[in-house]
Amino acid sequence: MNEITFKKNEDPRGVLISLEIFNEIPFEIKRIYYIYNSSSDVSRGFHAHKKLKQVLVAVSGSMTLKIENCNENKTIKLDSPEKGILIDSVCWREMYDFTDDCVLLVIASEKYDQDDYIHNYDDFRRIVESVI
Ligand code: TYD
Repeated sequence: MNEITFKKNEDPRGVLISLEIFNEIPFEIKRIYYIYNSSSDVSRGFHAHKKLKQVLVAVSGSMTLKIENCNENKTIKLDSPEKGILIDSVCWREMYDFTDDCVLLVIASEKYDQDDYIHNYDDFRRIVESVI
């Protein structure tokens, strides 16, 4: 997990943030999606990916991200459009505490592929332990 601070282009008209392949985003971008209208009592995620890497940005509002990989277990509040979180492959993620105005932008290294999902936490732990 890496936190990325984006460069702001700020002037009296407002702020513009640009995310470029191999600059702010350290992989080839194949997909972008966004999550919104998740209420504060909703939890999402509860899976890892075999190959997929993602950068998450709360472009509006805030949410909490819990992630676990082979060497760390972290809970991070995403509450700024100026900050991205890189989630590498084989990393368990859970997302919750969405504010009503939260729009979570996800920039992904692969197209949607159900076969890339690890839905079972014990399977995830077995894969993590096999690579340590
Ligand atoms: P899901 O993976 O359950 O979301 P989360 O992990 O955030 O809880 O995805 C919700 C639905 O959207 C599910 O039916 C699959 C579909 N989906 C796509 O069609 N394309 C995508 O890129 C993603 C991420 C999900």
